[in-house]
Amino acid sequence: MSPFETLNSQSDVSPPLHRVVLAPEKRLHIDYLINPTQPSEVGPDSGQDAVVGLSRSPKSLPPHYFYDDRGSQLFEQICELPEYYLTRTETRILQTYAQEIAGLTGPCELVELGSGSATKTRILLDACAVLGYPLRYLPIDVSGGILESSAYQLLNDYPTLQVHGLVSTYELGLQQLGPSPLDTRMICFLGSTLGNLTPEECHLFFSQIRAALQPGEYFLLGVDLQKPKALLEAAYNDSQGVTAAFNLNMLSHLNWRFRGNFDLEQFEHVAFYNEQQHQIEIYLRSLRSQTVTLQSLDLTVTFAAGETILSEISRKFDLTAISQELATLDLVPVHTWTDPQNWFGLVLCQFGTNSRWQSY
Ligand code: AVJ
Repeated sequence: MSPFETLNSQSDVSPPLHRVVLAPEKRLHIDYLINPTQPSEVGPDSGQDAVVGLSRSPKSLPPHYFYDDRGSQLFEQICELPEYYLTRTETRILQTYAQEIAGLTGPCELVELGSGSATKTRILLDACAVLGYPLRYLPIDVSGGILESSAYQLLNDYPTLQVHGLVSTYELGLQQLGPSPLDTRMICFLGSTLGNLTPEECHLFFSQIRAALQPGEYFLLGVDLQKPKALLEAAYNDSQGVTAAFNLNMLSHLNWRFRGNFDLEQFEHVAFYNEQQHQIEIYLRSLRSQTVTLQSLDLTVTFAAGETILSEISRKFDLTAISQELATLDLVPVHTWTDPQNWFGLVLCQFGTNSRWQSY
């Protein structure tokens, strides 16, 4: 899920709504920090962020609206596309270096922001298992369904694994992390989801990470790197049109969620690389002048022909620059890894300047 939700949500540190112990062997605990059944009037479920974005000029929508069930399926399909090198490249880097990463951290609890399909989590868990570490996994995800199903599969495949899930926005979940039950902890934020954040939001997010860590604990970040425009634009304009369907699906999601009447035939997918800002920008462009209503939000929106809604930015990073930024926040880079083509990067940081760290 997109960290946009976490950044816009209230900083409400109320106790867990309920704690569930689901596995008989007590290897699974899930705390629901946000209510799984009732959409709230404020906070990440309210739709107020959509009202704000659609009332603004130029119009925008937060990328978390991509991810209803259909959108999550389409994203999985994107990850398999020949043009979409990101997932495949990051997975390769992890496969190559997971043992080195685990060797650097020692036995640690793996905290993951966005649990997803957990393919990359398995690579890290396998590396910990090879080194004989106890296996502990703490996923944080706003989708309780995704979190539960991926936790069950992991428990099934790793007989000694302990899972403690938080159904929560990242911000709230990070605030609620107790002390690590193992020697140390590594918060993982993979897949270049960071790219959805503006530089300001990114800085705020890093300070939330830092606040969640104890001195000596780790942060593992995966980022897509700057590369020629043609490669980037192909990844967001695939020949099968899956990315276009993914983008347009945001409008169907708004239709069912907020009783809207967006006509998907009257919008098109646009994505290009903004070289000055080093970011892919993804838009929904209105093909004609039209009016759309979202009944449950009491919102009527008018579009001029050709007018756009910015549905996502996907920033492309410079590994040295991002490492320097992290270092200024006491998230000191211990090591970075890339693929042979330098397309994607991983940074392992350790919180605290007086800790043992090597140059990167
Ligand atoms: C999940 C945010 C990393 O920016 O590449 C893929 C989302 N959007 N194709 C990305 C996405 C269009 C993706 N992130």
